[in-house]
Amino acid sequence: MTSPRTNPRPDPRPKVRLTEEKETLLATLYGRAVDSRAKRPILGDTLAADTVQRLDYDFRKMRLSRGNAAGVALRARQLDVWTAGFLARHEEATVVHLGCGLDSRVHRLDPGPGVRWFDVDYPEVIALRRQLYPERAGYTTVPSSVTDPAWVTQIPPDRPTVIVAEGLLMYLTEEDGTALLRRLMDRVPSGELAFDAFSRFAIRVQWLNRAVVKAGARLHWGTDTAGIAALSPKLEIVENFSAMEIPGIEKLSAGSRLAARMSAKLPAVRDMARMYRGGWGGGGGRGGGGGAGPAGPSGPNWPTWQRGPHGGGPRTGAGRGRCPGPRPLPARPSPSARPSARPPVRPSARLPVCPSATVKPPATRRNPACTAARRPRPPAPRGRIRHPA
Ligand SMILES: C[S@@+](CC[C@H](N)C(=O)[O-])C[C@H]1O[C@@H](n2cnc3c(N)ncnc32)[C@H](O)[C@@H]1O
Repeated sequence: MTSPRTNPRPDPRPKVRLTEEKETLLATLYGRAVDSRAKRPILGDTLAADTVQRLDYDFRKMRLSRGNAAGVALRARQLDVWTAGFLARHEEATVVHLGCGLDSRVHRLDPGPGVRWFDVDYPEVIALRRQLYPERAGYTTVPSSVTDPAWVTQIPPDRPTVIVAEGLLMYLTEEDGTALLRRLMDRVPSGELAFDAFSRFAIRVQWLNRAVVKAGARLHWGTDTAGIAALSPKLEIVENFSAMEIPGIEKLSAGSRLAARMSAKLPAVRDMARMYRGGWGGGGGRGGGGGAGPAGPSGPNWPTWQRGPHGGGPRTGAGRGRCPGPRPLPARPSPSARPSARPPVRPSARLPVCPSATVKPPATRRNPACTAARRPRPPAPRGRIRHPA
């Protein structure tokens, strides 16, 4: 007897066909999504959770641990803090976000009208991005390899510029990465670089990096503080620390903190991933945006444990004071049409991301728009990866 069931409707969500280094953006997106659904989020990127739900991709195959999701959120948070600090000091400025993937930094920071923002990634990534995120004034997506010199001519040469690269530089060769950063520093007279970089040791043991291995990607550029300082005589490194000593790490679970403390005792392990902020042409503000200075974050979208004591906060223009997550999005299919409408799996309460954090981001608590935007949780993370790139 034939089944009376009709054929299932085709999944209307965009199918993700990214490979190699492009596919790794899904691990970081998923990390932010998982963090946003934690009891006490570090980054609170509800747009990431929304985006995960809107993609036809099996995120469970990433086997991302909660500790790893917290690590991704902390790194993103730090780069948000630095970018916001720069924008607080420069109302008329440019942001160049290299290897943006599906990161919603521009929506989280919601810069003011004086800011031009460029998100750069491979054409396939930008094509997917354009299906998922709304356009906005002053915002340009650049579909290109970052190493292609041609796109750089789109960057205004006459305004202070912050260049942000999260989980990107390790995928480039040293030659390409060095040429890219020098090219950008030559293009604009003053600005700031904010990024993370891997050590040579991290490159040697990249087989430990589950996200990279699963995607079939390869990491190339390993460097250290001396290597970064040698990028250009113009560049002054202002801040530089191990990812295991990143501000906010004390908010992780006791187990994750212990693991970080133990690892930090071994210099080779401690230095596998480092965060850098540097300036050139007088653009590298000291004490700005580090979370503790006058330009540190303080808007209602930021957890209080990362707000500056002076109430400065990111000068993020029109959006300041509003929830950065939920923004008008293109029409979505009805939940019944989406296979992902299955009952959400809640991350286990046994492994909270940051049990010691006492403050929930006020925006997600107070703003009804944020609450309304809550969607089913992304699938629960499993297993571990060590150093998501
Ligand atoms: C680990 S993902 C990080 C994505 C994003 N920054 C985030 O944190 O979610 C690495 C990103 O670098 C991009 N990427 C790697 N090499 C690139 C290149 N040569 N040109 C442009 N993008 C590149 C990938 O497409 C991917 O989006």
